[in-house]
Amino acid sequence: MVVLVTGSSRGIGAATIKEFASHGYDVVINYKNSLEDALRVQDSIREYKVRSLVLKCDISKEEDVNDMIDSIIEEFGSIDVVINNAGIAIDTTFEDKTIANFRRTLDVNLIGTFNVSKIVGKIMFENHKGTIINISSTNGIDTTYPESLDYDASKAGVISLTHNLAKQFSPYVRVNCICPGWVKTSMNDNLSMEFIQQETNKILLKRFANPEEIAQAIYNISICSYINDSIIRVDGGEKS
Ligand SMILES: NC(=O)c1ccc[n+]([C@@H]2O[C@H](COP(=O)([O-])OP(=O)(O)OC[C@H]3O[C@@H](n4cnc5c(N)ncnc54)[C@H](OP(=O)(O)O)[C@@H]3O)[C@@H](O)[C@H]2O)c1
Repeated sequence: MVVLVTGSSRGIGAATIKEFASHGYDVVINYKNSLEDALRVQDSIREYKVRSLVLKCDISKEEDVNDMIDSIIEEFGSIDVVINNAGIAIDTTFEDKTIANFRRTLDVNLIGTFNVSKIVGKIMFENHKGTIINISSTNGIDTTYPESLDYDASKAGVISLTHNLAKQFSPYVRVNCICPGWVKTSMNDNLSMEFIQQETNKILLKRFANPEEIAQAIYNISICSYINDSIIRVDGGEKS
């Protein structure tokens, strides 16, 4: 079995690569800028003795995505699981939002997810098997802070996209969406201690998730053969 995890040079993506490798999957590690990090992830799974491929690809670029999928098919012959995880959040105040930043956020988080799903969904449909998991966010469901309106819109779009992809590739490909709450990754490096405390207080488990806990949810949803077209919160019980 072969899994592609987009944006897997660190954070949730890197933890997801380790989770699947620990279950014997061959893995494709994708990065855009961080080659050294991606190679470290590859190094970290040597103990599982699975095959692995590290591929540079900006998922917002259709040509890049086509090349990446061609390389995967050439190397492994098939692709069984895709986790659309790569994402960005451009941190600004409401006043400082620019059209350029808004577009870049949509291009990566939403169009990038579409670019990958369009091509792998077709391959999986023709093979009569496969599963896609899109990583949205609780921000795609709840609208808490106008400062993240661009990110929230992109993640709401990913939820909508999930439903349409599930219809398009029915009955052979299961498409689901996971919405994490707060996770301890570099995406949140800029948060103040005061803000972290304020957000932690809203979570019933009283802590942010570790990336490994999101990876565990992703893996388990991927193997549940009757979960399809579902939007699943993994947020420790978040009360906004
Ligand atoms: N952390 C949270 O609290 C949280 C909560 C809810 C949802 N999420 C979602 O979970 C996903 C992973 O987040 P994270 O916290 O693990 O983020 P992260 O630590 O910032 O890692 C992001 C990953 O995406 C890659 N990436 C960024 N732009 C890319 C592009 N255009 N093409 C290919 N790869 C690209 C990065 O690789 P390079 O460095 O090589 O570009 C990196 O591997 C994102 O979709 C995020 O929105 C995160």
